Amino acid sequence: MTDTLTLRRPDDWHLHLRDGAALAAVLPHTAAQFARAIIMPNLKAPVTSTDLAAQYRERILAARPAGSRFEPLMTLYLTDNTSTEEIRKARASGFVHGCKLYPAGATTHSDAGVTDIRRIDAALEAMAEVGMPLQVHGEVTHADVDVFDRETRFIDEVLAPLRARLPTLRMVFEHVTTRSAVDFVRAQPQGVAATITPQHLTYNRNALFQGGIRPHYYCLPVLKRERDRTALLDAVLAGDARFFLGTDSAPHARGTKETACGCAGIYSAHAAMELYAEVFEDARALHRLPAFASEFGARFYGLPLNEDQVTLRREPLEIPAHYPYGDDVLVPLRAGERLRWRLA
Ligand code: DOR
Ligand code: ZN
Repeated sequence: MTDTLTLRRPDDWHLHLRDGAALAAVLPHTAAQFARAIIMPNLKAPVTSTDLAAQYRERILAARPAGSRFEPLMTLYLTDNTSTEEIRKARASGFVHGCKLYPAGATTHSDAGVTDIRRIDAALEAMAEVGMPLQVHGEVTHADVDVFDRETRFIDEVLAPLRARLPTLRMVFEHVTTRSAVDFVRAQPQGVAATITPQHLTYNRNALFQGGIRPHYYCLPVLKRERDRTALLDAVLAGDARFFLGTDSAPHARGTKETACGCAGIYSAHAAMELYAEVFEDARALHRLPAFASEFGARFYGLPLNEDQVTLRREPLEIPAHYPYGDDVLVPLRAGERLRWRLA
């Protein structure tokens, strides 16, 4: 039995850091594990321009713990009005590494998102031209589509047609949750990758209803069936370079989760690598973790691999019931439980 695993320092290719006191509360967790992270732009006032991304980046850098060299990789939030000039400016900045497509109304702070993909044709063409990756929240939002079918319908109605129109646009299908998403990514000859969260590798939708309704297992896209979870697991266990680590760690104050209309989002930054290590170990594939966590994403984004290393040890890690979070607290994934691995 392996008791230590040393690997290149990993990166998180999908992360929500929020702003202000929330940012200060959660950033130390990510900075302790990861060298870099793709920072989601869905702030209350979304990060829709290179100038806003520059200011947000400075606030993140200022919130880093003393001595941290954590590097935020910024993204822009696409709207119906994103201009081609803004895309070019973002690419030229050197610190914007993608533009995020939130279908309007799909999730937290997506009201300003794109109402119809055809409205952003020009921006997407400019992205393809300058080599700016598109990060996709892949769910349709029509009220008549079952919440468990929204990802699959998005592939058929939006993603596949987009690929056909713009085959040179590089894209990351974020937080994939279904067998159909895995199949779609695998079927693309090049230029399409996907991130996978710890929760979608660990749980199926039963977790939401285990003995009662469980708001801390609620995220979007929502957990799916067991056959979907095993399809995600198969994709990472095959060592397929198109599937890489993205926690989608999405903090919400306890009071906004444990309520009649709870927010979507699961917080996993406190023990991200430990959570993935358990998943890979349970599947007898710990040897697949280093490339998934530390190589595939960097290669897709055309960034250098990190040079320093981290070590996971087989030691119990007690997860607290909550962490401080501004005026409230934050309930992390596996709160009150014991994990089997610990990042040294
Ligand atoms: O569960 C989610 N939470 N899914 C998202 O797409 C957004 C995120 C958030 O920002 O809280
Ligand atoms: Zn997200």
